[in-house]
Amino acid sequence: MKVLVTGGAGYIGTHLCVELLENGYEIVVIDNFSTSTLEGLRRVREITGKSFHVYYVNLLDKKNLKKVFSLHQIDSVIHLAGYKSVRESTSDPMKYYRNNIEGTMTLCEVMQEFNVTSLVFSSSATVYAPVEKYEAISEKHPLGPTNPYGHTKRLIEEMLRDIFDSNTDWCIRILRYFNPVGAHKSGLIGENPKGIPANLFPYLSKVVVGKLPALFIYGDDYPTPDGTGIRDYIHVTDLAKGHLYALHNLSSSSGVNVYNLGTGKGYSVFEMLREFESVTGKIIPYLIAPRRKGDVAFSFADVSKAKEELGWEATRGIDSMCHDAWKWQRNNPNGYELTRIKPLKKEVMSYDWL
Ligand code: WQD
Repeated sequence: MKVLVTGGAGYIGTHLCVELLENGYEIVVIDNFSTSTLEGLRRVREITGKSFHVYYVNLLDKKNLKKVFSLHQIDSVIHLAGYKSVRESTSDPMKYYRNNIEGTMTLCEVMQEFNVTSLVFSSSATVYAPVEKYEAISEKHPLGPTNPYGHTKRLIEEMLRDIFDSNTDWCIRILRYFNPVGAHKSGLIGENPKGIPANLFPYLSKVVVGKLPALFIYGDDYPTPDGTGIRDYIHVTDLAKGHLYALHNLSSSSGVNVYNLGTGKGYSVFEMLREFESVTGKIIPYLIAPRRKGDVAFSFADVSKAKEELGWEATRGIDSMCHDAWKWQRNNPNGYELTRIKPLKKEVMSYDWL
């Protein structure tokens, strides 16, 4: 079975490619390398020993996207490509609407033209409205994104439903990620944010390896047991495996279905900081800072639907998340930075990892 992975060079993408290859799938990767490098894919090849095609294609470039579909008999698409920074989406919403929504529209048009109607879409828990009380968020929870990034994910979900309503041949699974963290157990691939990380885990990792002096905890006055924000952190390998369960489920029925990918457990900033200290044996300096605009007090998933219908559940705990994040950061203090390889020309180029 041949799977096209859009955004396959990214953090989630590289971990997904490893799981697909190790489970016998043939893959074709497209990426515009706007926030990633070839190095991550080279290491996917190193981890799995498997070769695969990579094309330097922007989803807005319909001509070259069609070339990829004409070169390969694609059975299913896992669509990860998209910008995902809440902060950046607030300062530059049009960049997010253009890239995330128009890119997905182009992809779906080309899929339709080549009669490929099997799709797994990477959505996000940011589509949900903030919860009023400390309770697990199910797929039935009201939607109400509070930032342009979340708006693009919600609009794409609606668009996919409309596409199915117009052509019931489509089989679509929408995966709402909670907080993906950690890295592959090899320490070869991991989260590679540009500049100062916005998210907790990569920031904590850089403090632990001494690349940053201290953690700023954004608010300790939330209505939570220790006053800091609570999130549902999920190991990126568990998240990647969830895509394979969704892919398998596509073959069982048409239609559109939505699943939370989380652990069902919430941990506070302090709890994660203490876990990092326990796993690494290091003291992590921190300062209490004002709340960050747009943050919610708590967010954790009801994951029963994915377990019942996909047969999937997360198995890795916060000790593995911290251990693997630290191993990646320790082995790669500058991420892939030192080996940042950008394809030379902006056109379809096939990197056959032979
Ligand atoms: C987690 C907690 C912060 C950094 C993000 C994106 C969203 C989604 C998941 C893709 C919060 C606190 C953080 C720091 C801190 N990704 N924190 N100091 O905001 O829940 O969601 O990742 O869909 O795009 O919004 O994750 O890691 O930024 O924050 O105290 O330096 O850590 O206040 O309580 P978030 P996060």
